[in-house]
Amino acid sequence: MVESSTGWRNEAPATADSLNLLVDLLPSLQPASELGRVASDVGGVRIDAGQHPGAFAAAAALPISGGAAITVEVLSLVPGMSISIRNTATGDLDFETEITGSAPQLLHIDLPDAAGRAILFRTANAAQAPAVLVKRLELQGADYSRYPVVDTVIRQAPFAAGIKDRLQQALLDLDVRERFSLPQGLTLAAAVADFRPTVILDLGTCTGGSAFCMALADPSVPIYTFDIETFWQTWVLPHVSTPPANITPIVADITQFDFTSLLKDAERVMIFWDAHGFEIAGRVFSHIMPLIADKPHIVFCHDVSDNRFNDTDEGRSYGGKMMFRGYAHYDANMPTTARANLGWMTTAVDQGIALNDFCYRNRMTLCSVDYEVKVTSAGRADRGALSQIYPDGLPGFDLTFFTLNETYLRHFPSR
Ligand SMILES: C[S@@+](CC[C@H](N)C(=O)[O-])C[C@H]1O[C@@H](n2cnc3c(N)ncnc32)[C@H](O)[C@@H]1O
Repeated sequence: MVESSTGWRNEAPATADSLNLLVDLLPSLQPASELGRVASDVGGVRIDAGQHPGAFAAAAALPISGGAAITVEVLSLVPGMSISIRNTATGDLDFETEITGSAPQLLHIDLPDAAGRAILFRTANAAQAPAVLVKRLELQGADYSRYPVVDTVIRQAPFAAGIKDRLQQALLDLDVRERFSLPQGLTLAAAVADFRPTVILDLGTCTGGSAFCMALADPSVPIYTFDIETFWQTWVLPHVSTPPANITPIVADITQFDFTSLLKDAERVMIFWDAHGFEIAGRVFSHIMPLIADKPHIVFCHDVSDNRFNDTDEGRSYGGKMMFRGYAHYDANMPTTARANLGWMTTAVDQGIALNDFCYRNRMTLCSVDYEVKVTSAGRADRGALSQIYPDGLPGFDLTFFTLNETYLRHFPSR
């Protein structure tokens, strides 16, 4: 038996290479500034909170303090795994259960007090290394900074349902067609209402659908919508003569525009990113993100989707099409070119690749709205609220999001 620095007694002490702590685990537990402290608390074992979904294997302790409940989303990768949670001060067992099955499970564990907690994953066979995929470990009530879209959508469902008809009418008036959907508009509207940005950037005006949905959610927040083309004059105004007053259209090349004056005094920033290509991604990551990294912010990305909800062997085939060779080639050969899949991400736009790269480098999670709303909501008693805004069942969202607020790293490209 070995006493770890957390007070947890490990029967099979973790070693640096036997413990590979997941991904989005730490950032969701602690404010980014606390990450170093947490890492050093775990018995000197290096915690790799990298971007790749992985397992943490070995009996290891994780300190948790504060909060009234823990949510763990976990998938056992070997048979006979158990998870237990102990009070590190008293050694009392708060919770213990077997993890079985091949689908992610959500466990909600109520904690009677705010003492430190240790979590142990263990196999029935002591000779076998534990292998667990922890998708999410969250301390309710704690000041974690990853943006919980599922909470937002559930909490704001009554609000979004209240403006749903107006959003739908706006999208019809604007004739957005397949460029932007009502479920996407409702999700962004819920995020505006919940996150309360003081400035919104809409990257890619086109039909105006995304700008209108965000503007109608909060008429007091300034929205700057950008397009290199004059779609505001040629498309939006001919369809809607009196657009929401809080939208300012800017005809400019995003790759050249200086966003400093719009963002430097902003307190909370929301971005909807729907203009495509590596050059725009370079501008977002080298210029826009440094301006907002240390302010509360959230970035939603259109056309970067989740392939886990349409996953068939048939769907994985190229279907006789060419493989993806970049968006320009895809755009010119759409009927005969397949999309690109990177892990769970499926996309036809180049920035999907840049996004994965940026998230990996900064140890942050590229999050999927589909996954959040469909899987993470699964065990919640208040999940029924979703039917207020998605009465015909949960749709495909085609939206991902990220925030540098969840990480302590600040790695930006030069351009
Ligand atoms: C997919 S559309 C945006 C759709 C929009 N969100 C809506 O609701 O209709 C992408 C837009 O990005 C614009 N765009 C592409 N490159 C750009 C650049 N370098 N600077 C500004 N806008 C750009 C395109 O002109 C196009 O209108």
